[in-house]
Order: sequence, then C-alpha cells, then structure tokens
Amino acid sequence: MRLILLGPPGAGKGTLADRLTDRLSVPHLASGDILRAQIRQGSDLGPAVQKYMNSGQLVPDDLIVQVMISRLTQPDCAAGFILDGFPRTLPQAQALNGRLAEVQAPIDMVIYLDAGEQVIISRLAGRRVCPLCDATYHLQTMPPAESGKCDRDGADLQARPDDQPQVIRTRLQEYRRLTEPLLEYYAAAGRFVRLDGNKDIEWVYCQAQQVLTKTFSSTDEP
Ligand code: AP5
Ligand code: MG
Repeated sequence: MRLILLGPPGAGKGTLADRLTDRLSVPHLASGDILRAQIRQGSDLGPAVQKYMNSGQLVPDDLIVQVMISRLTQPDCAAGFILDGFPRTLPQAQALNGRLAEVQAPIDMVIYLDAGEQVIISRLAGRRVCPLCDATYHLQTMPPAESGKCDRDGADLQARPDDQPQVIRTRLQEYRRLTEPLLEYYAAAGRFVRLDGNKDIEWVYCQAQQVLTKTFSSTDEP
C-alpha cells in the first residue's frame, strides 16, 4: 500500500498516519520528522533546514526530493509506505511520480484531510511534542498520561518552534500557494478521497479505514 496524506498544517496527517502505520504494516514517512531528525543529529543540512522550518517556509524542492527519494528506496518501504508532508509542491509530486514509475510502483491512494482555519489554529496552539521521539499530543484532545511528559520515554514535552502564531500564518500561506494545487493534480489522477479533518480523531481514523477497505477489498489487501 502506497498512500499519500495531504492537508494543511495541523489537519491531523501525522496523527492519522501514526494509527494507520500499524494497521497497514508499512512505515510512516513524515518529511517534517525526517528534517527535524537531521537537525537533532547535527547533520550538515541541519542549520539551513532549521532556518526554513522555523520561519514557516518550505525547504527547497531539490533538497527534500533527494532526502525523501533516498528514504523511499530503503528496504522497509518495499511493501509500501505512508507519506505525510511529502510531496507538497508540483515539482515534488512530479519527481515522486517519476521515481515510482521507474520502479513500477505507483501511488495507490491519496487521502486529503481538510480542516478549517480556526480548527488548525487551536490544534497547533495546543500541540505538544516529544523532542526525543516526535510523539505528538494535544493539551485537550490527546493529553499524555502524565502532564507534560512523553508516554513513551518520559521526556519533557514542548511546543514546536513553528507553532507560534506568526509562523502558523506563513505556513498556511505556503500551503495555499504551493500545496493546494496538488489537490487538483491528484484528484485528476484518481483514487483521491477527501475526509473531514475537523472531526475527532476516532471518526477520522474510522473513515480512513473504511475508505481503504472499500477501495482495496476487491483488488488487493490494504
Ligand atoms: P511538517 O512537520 O510536515 O508540518 P505540517 O505539514 O505543517 O503539518 P503538521 O505536522 O503541523 O500537522 P499534522 O497535519 O501532521 O497534524 P498533527 O497530526 O500533528 O513540516 C514542517 C516544516 O518542514 C514545513 O513547514 C517545511 O519547512 C518543512 N517541510 C516538511 N516537508 C516538506 C516538503 N515536502 N517540502 C518542503 N518543506 C517541507 O495534529 C496537530 C495537533 O492536533 C496535534 O496536537 C494532535 O494531537 C491534534 N489532532 C490531530 N488530529 C486531531 C483530530 N482529528 N481531532 C482533534 N485533535 C487532533
Ligand atoms: Mg505532522
């Protein structure tokens, strides 16, 4: 199963992908998490990438395409993957398509998680993340078992640096300008489904499961 999750910042792409990754037994490839890991590990790319991310701008296409295509060619992706946050420009989508065509492994489904601006703002304002493992929580909708601590490793939870109100505005502008055109691109390609990301986490997960089961039960396993 090769799945793309598309949607604005805070729509719940990462949250949904975390749940689907177990169900589908394929890795969750979140471009933002991969870039944040490069920063944490002090890689050469780190400082340049951090500047873009902290300002809410997209990193250059060439850079992210190289990072993501190299990730996709690792053995754990042989049976598929869930892409979260990539592609998010037309050149990225075209580069991904080209690569997948070469290996005759096209995208099976694109799920677009739609969410309104007020929902996005309250999701990002309440989001807390683990600086060690990237686990994601929300102060109201998904609190950790112990306040302020990661359930997995006990680290102190933090707000993401790009979840400041001014940076959120830039991220939303970037989304509308550069990523929204992908909706038409993938809708035209077929197997494109919109889900209402304003709804609660359980609802979104159940709908996604239903869509995947319905689409693939008559062809292959989701
Ligand atoms: P990235 O990390 O991908 O950020 P994003 O796309 O802006 O999306 P978010 O991670 O903010 O939101 P999400 O949809 O995953 O929501 P989540 O599940 O966390 O990218 C960061 C930066 O990296 C970019 O700005 C750019 O600089 C760079 N970058 C990354 N990819 C790139 C690319 N391809 N090209 C160029 N640059 C790139 O949920 C949000 C909150 O809401 C959480 O607290 C969660 O608990 C809660 N929640 C989730 N779903 C629900 C629900 N249904 N109901 C209630 N609460 C919910
Ligand atoms: Mg995310």
